[in-house]
Amino acid sequence: MASFNTMAGCFLASALFAMVVGKVSNALVSVHEPEKPAIALAEAAPETAAAAEKPPELPPIGPKLKDANVQHGEQIFKQQCFTCHTVDKGGANKVGPNQWNLVGRKKASEEGFSYSAALQKLGGTWSYEDINHMIFKPQSFARGTKMAFAGLPKEQDRADVIAYLRTMHDDPKPPLP
Ligand code: HEC
Repeated sequence: MASFNTMAGCFLASALFAMVVGKVSNALVSVHEPEKPAIALAEAAPETAAAAEKPPELPPIGPKLKDANVQHGEQIFKQQCFTCHTVDKGGANKVGPNQWNLVGRKKASEEGFSYSAALQKLGGTWSYEDINHMIFKPQSFARGTKMAFAGLPKEQDRADVIAYLRTMHDDPKPPLP
């Protein structure tokens, strides 16, 4: 019994350690973007300021999905997203909404989850490209979102996570949209 407790203790400790490391590495990549000039912001109404915010230029992710590494995507999901998101079918909403069937799902539509206004006004469904932008920089894709995540700067990481999310679906969409 004692050894079981020790083992359980070790497991807990390493799980906690992994969470802390995850948090710290998130913090490390959270580089602040330069603010827009105050004048430009003051001149524009809040909505137009948000609309004028150009999404970052990202090369299309669709073509990268075919050769993406789903297992690596799952690992990244567990390290970086699972703190806030379950992804299994019927999984609970945590800090963020459950992600089963995410690809092709209407944005901000997960039952029982209270979305920010920023996410609700995005409109449309989650295409591979929109997920790519969302997880690259949530705050620039949906300014004001309550997804407090710095983003995945590496394209390969994003491709792998999206390829993994594609499989977590009742009816996985083709890799090339
Ligand atoms: C710190 C918690 C947190 C982390 C970490 C996080 N998210 Fe989120 N996520 C949220 C929250 C909260 C929302 C809801 C946002 C809103 O309403 O503004 C969200 C929303 C989303 C949405 C929109 C879902 C929908 O139903 O419209 C996607 C897609 C998403 N997250 C993907 C990811 C992925 C992939 C990762 C890991 C790479 C990740 N998130 C990491 C908290 C998090």
